[in-house]
Amino acid sequence: MKRVAILISGGGSNMVKLAESMTTDHPARPVVVIANDPNAGGLAKAADLGIPTAVVDHREFNKDRNAFEAVLHATLEEYQPDIICLAGFMRILTGGFTAHYAGRMLNIHPSLLPKYKGLHTHARALEAGDAEHGCTVHEVTADLDDGPVLGQARIAIQRGDTPDDLAARLLPMEHQLYPAVLRRFAAGDRTPIFLPKAGAMP
Ligand code: GRF
Repeated sequence: MKRVAILISGGGSNMVKLAESMTTDHPARPVVVIANDPNAGGLAKAADLGIPTAVVDHREFNKDRNAFEAVLHATLEEYQPDIICLAGFMRILTGGFTAHYAGRMLNIHPSLLPKYKGLHTHARALEAGDAEHGCTVHEVTADLDDGPVLGQARIAIQRGDTPDDLAARLLPMEHQLYPAVLRRFAAGDRTPIFLPKAGAMP
């Protein structure tokens, strides 16, 4: 049975879907949820699911990334994770940290990578006049939002869409994609998953 640590910064809706999916014949189980913000709404949701939680507050390290990551690493190692899932975790990790977890750390990003790495992905897709948008689960490497793609889901962009409209329509796709990728990845299979496109205009 693979041990999964989930890192969050906010509400944790992806974390909840990942945790709820890891039951019965799933090859993995959640062992800890760690947040970099003590006010992250996902901490209470994890506790309600009976998952141990921890906080490593990046603000306590005065922008010293290495010091923050040293404590994050020590906290993770207490739980001996086989796999780490970044789920709405908004801290950029250094190459040294990602190298330590190379090949076993995943992230979900709200764009069709390699398009729109970084922030404000919904607004950028609209500004570019794209016809479709989506989300990507990828392995984490030293370069931000750049590692091997393990899954993607697409949505159609509709006339009059705002960034909030896209975010709201994309989140349910994230909640389908990430658990599906984790189940396959935890079984040792890196074959990418591409979900059928949602919301195409008739
Ligand atoms: C998601 O849209 C995810 O793609 C992005 O941050 C959002 C987090 O949502 N990285 P939640 O905290 O999982 O609800």
